[in-house]
Amino acid sequence: MSDGLAVEHLSEDQARSELARLALEIRLADAAYYKQDAPHLSDAAYDHLRQRNLAIEARFPQLKRMDSPTDRVGVQVSDGFGKVEHGLPMLSLDNAFADADVEEFAARIRRFLGLPDDQDLVLTAEPKIDGLSLSLTYKDGALVRAATRGDGKVGEDVTANARTLADVPAQLAGGDWPDLVEVRGEVYMSHADFAALNTREAAAGRKTFANPRNAAAGSLRQLDVAITRARPLKFFAYAWGMASRHFADTQVEAVAALGRWGFATNDLFAAYQNTDGLVGAYRQMVERRAALGYDIDGVVYKVNRLDWQSRLGFVSRFPRWAIAHKFPAEKALTRLEAIDIQVGRTGSLTPVARLAPVTVGGVVVSNATLHNEDEIARLDVRIGDQVEIQRAGDVIPQILRVVDAEREGRPGPFTMPHACPECGAAAVREVDDKGVADVRRRCTGGLTCPAQAVERLRHFVSRKALDIDGIGGKQVELFFERGVVKAPQHLFQLAARIDGAGLLPLSEWEGFGETSYQKLIAALDARREVAFARFLNGLGIRNVGQTNAGLFARNFVTWTAFWGAVESALADPGGEAEASLLAIDGIGAAAVDSLKAFAAEPHNQEMLTELLNELQILDGEAPASESPVSGKTVVFTGTLEAMTRDEAKARATSLGAKVSGSVSARTDILVAGPGAGSKLKKAESLGVSVMTEAEWIALVDGA
Ligand code: IVH
Repeated sequence: MSDGLAVEHLSEDQARSELARLALEIRLADAAYYKQDAPHLSDAAYDHLRQRNLAIEARFPQLKRMDSPTDRVGVQVSDGFGKVEHGLPMLSLDNAFADADVEEFAARIRRFLGLPDDQDLVLTAEPKIDGLSLSLTYKDGALVRAATRGDGKVGEDVTANARTLADVPAQLAGGDWPDLVEVRGEVYMSHADFAALNTREAAAGRKTFANPRNAAAGSLRQLDVAITRARPLKFFAYAWGMASRHFADTQVEAVAALGRWGFATNDLFAAYQNTDGLVGAYRQMVERRAALGYDIDGVVYKVNRLDWQSRLGFVSRFPRWAIAHKFPAEKALTRLEAIDIQVGRTGSLTPVARLAPVTVGGVVVSNATLHNEDEIARLDVRIGDQVEIQRAGDVIPQILRVVDAEREGRPGPFTMPHACPECGAAAVREVDDKGVADVRRRCTGGLTCPAQAVERLRHFVSRKALDIDGIGGKQVELFFERGVVKAPQHLFQLAARIDGAGLLPLSEWEGFGETSYQKLIAALDARREVAFARFLNGLGIRNVGQTNAGLFARNFVTWTAFWGAVESALADPGGEAEASLLAIDGIGAAAVDSLKAFAAEPHNQEMLTELLNELQILDGEAPASESPVSGKTVVFTGTLEAMTRDEAKARATSLGAKVSGSVSARTDILVAGPGAGSKLKKAESLGVSVMTEAEWIALVDGA
């Protein structure tokens, strides 16, 4: 592919795909040079790629990739899998359980697109394969990279492993593929292959796999590619990510293209004119499920027209244009042997049912959640009872009901402890200002409770927070037990704290050694610059998880501005700062109250000050800050003709605008369709810029 447009002429979309292409080209060139000792680019050509990448990043800093070549010199020598950023994120699917959910899904799409009743909405149906998803990048028809889903944005590089699969073509067939395309699908193992593999594993005295999905995942993610090669893995292609050009108008055409390029696609994939057709397909698949020879756990429905798919877009991790209609959960009977109490990072006490092990849907289950004491009372479940449990997908198994209640000589109803089992502090149910008791009992010990402290540290280093390579639950527990890491900031002072405590240097601890010590320090140092949203999520503040942290990061952009607002909200309840926090679409009073409660605690203030001495918090990405409407407050009024109100709002929000329902001095743009009334008058009197729907579309099109 040639360079194409000069950097200063690239649109944001073009820049995004150009950065994806350059990251890939540079990675391939690096691998050829460093790993295979067979450079395929001249030094000048290579430097040119890097310079173009730098120039684009300088013009569009918000598009810089997590795996940007700028941050990487040569090839990382790692004993794990390398990390790669997907050209387009790999999304998940929202779930439907009942037929009514499927009706609602179609109705939502019709509303969003503003389809008249007599307009057909064609949807496709296909089995939801129970395996692991894989994204395959093809450049000029040749497989150049394979990546697991990972967190959806960044996955693991399993190229060498994927090359061993017979269903993954090394070279695409046909000739109508885009120069650069990410083909996506599911790696799975058939029932027969799974049974044979487990027989071999057992005969060799090795551990067997719980189910075909675990076997497929364990087989693909092998550092020793020879092991993957020996495992009978299969692959169905059903989707795509980035593509350098348009190659189909519908899902049906796209799947046909995947077939022409040499992929196995599912025979049961078909298009239907209405939801009755979909539900009919679902019923058929329920019946055929046992005879398919591989595990499926539902049926996926997708909007057939790709132009509609792109108009529908996605909300958080789910596309609006697809849904998974799940099969009913599998059930089994077993006995409740004990109820243990777990203390979470926010101090909540969760009762966990310990069960006599039983196989449900191919997995051995020995624990189930009981949620809280109200749930235990509702079920009236007692230790020793025979219970019915269910397990659906990856959801934690649940107890549905007590089957026999022959309780003579058995313990009475279970009562929750009123003291934390970990630290002995009082465990209470908080009562809100309306006098309603929280369903959860919480330990009041705060960070003096070891369970809470360890859980918080675990959360802080976890993948969705600071994502510190090489530090997980085990390490955190060990550091905590030895007294060197009691709070997150201590991680970044590790060597000094170990020294100060008079302990042996970490490199001499059992299981560490010089190399792993160096790696650990490097991993920590790599996170001294951390994204705003990750950092905020990592603090583990109640009601401020990944989603809300992302919202604050996008809206406040800098940590200083955000934390300033939280502190002002604390000092001046109900004032302007608090209003600015609450004004964010999606943020409610619970999150803001939790932030204030957190900021009010002196030990939290101390922790933050110390952390900020160690870390640099990177600005949040205001979405599409290059877009002409980012940061602007927009109001829609009157009738819109080219799109529905929902679609208009979603598009504006995705371009970084704030959509408001009323006109005020803070409104930047009023988009007024026919029939606009009082809002238009008010905007005119306030001197707010007013535009027609067509002018609005011209403004945001191509952005
Ligand atoms: S489409 C944007 N189709 O289900 C939609 N996914 O719960 C992308 N999956 O991560 C997915 N069979 O691993 C799609 N026929 C199918 C699927 C399928 C299995 C998996 C996939 C995805 C997960 C979402």
